[in-house]
Amino acid sequence: MTTFDIKQLQTELEHKNPRVILKKALELFDNIAISFSGAEDVVLIDMAVSIRKDIQVFSLDTGRLHPETYRFIEKVRKHYQIDIELLTPDRDVLDSFVKKKGLFSFYEDGHQECCGIRKVEPLKRKLVHLDAWITGQRKDQSLDTRQDIPEVQLDTAFSNAEHQLVKFNPLLNWSSAQVWDYIEAYQVPYNELHEKGFISIGCEPCTRPVLPNQHERAGRWWWESEAKKECGLHAGNLKK
Ligand code: ADX
Ligand code: SF4
Repeated sequence: MTTFDIKQLQTELEHKNPRVILKKALELFDNIAISFSGAEDVVLIDMAVSIRKDIQVFSLDTGRLHPETYRFIEKVRKHYQIDIELLTPDRDVLDSFVKKKGLFSFYEDGHQECCGIRKVEPLKRKLVHLDAWITGQRKDQSLDTRQDIPEVQLDTAFSNAEHQLVKFNPLLNWSSAQVWDYIEAYQVPYNELHEKGFISIGCEPCTRPVLPNQHERAGRWWWESEAKKECGLHAGNLKK
């Protein structure tokens, strides 16, 4: 698919509801997968399995997830009877990183290095084998980095001259309330941490519950500024 086609497709999909976007994505691409970690992604899985039963799903297992998140992954796998591919960091790179900088270097010099090893590199390894991927990003997750995400885009962060990768964001225009209405209405499984004040959930050392009226991502990398709160999975969102 060319860049021009993507522009046309974007025009066609603009402001469409998530299921329409998802259906189109699955019609256009066989070799496509859902990138799964949180509440939004299970909503996507719930919608996708009624379109394609054997939808491809992967999750980045950083080794630093909460025990509740591991239980949640298992719950989703069983509930939908799907395979969930768990992608782990390169062992040698991780060993030398931990040996050199320990287990909590991100509190001192930022999350980019650790996220680079535990998330971005395994993601890269997966994405070279895909033609398209689907994420649960929403615009209102961040005023700083997610306001401009489109329904579909060429993923410039992970494409190269030989391999063009397309990225779909079907839930971009949904609010958190819409996601949770769907979860309640269709009895979709969710991470039990949501019952303990967590909203946006990442790795255990880099996520904390939020207080009433705090923004949903205030508990992610709370020691860093809002404009830096992208771990590299969605590097294209960062303003140059
Ligand atoms: S993050 O980049 O800050 O961690 P966020 O938690 O908001 O991302 O999630 C946005 C989308 O990124 C999710 O809906 C999901 O598609 C993808 N994503 C985030 N974390 C992971 C993960 N550990 N494994 C797979 N996909 C993920
Ligand atoms: Fe490392 Fe934290 Fe990034 Fe997880 S979120 S990969 S623990 S810096």
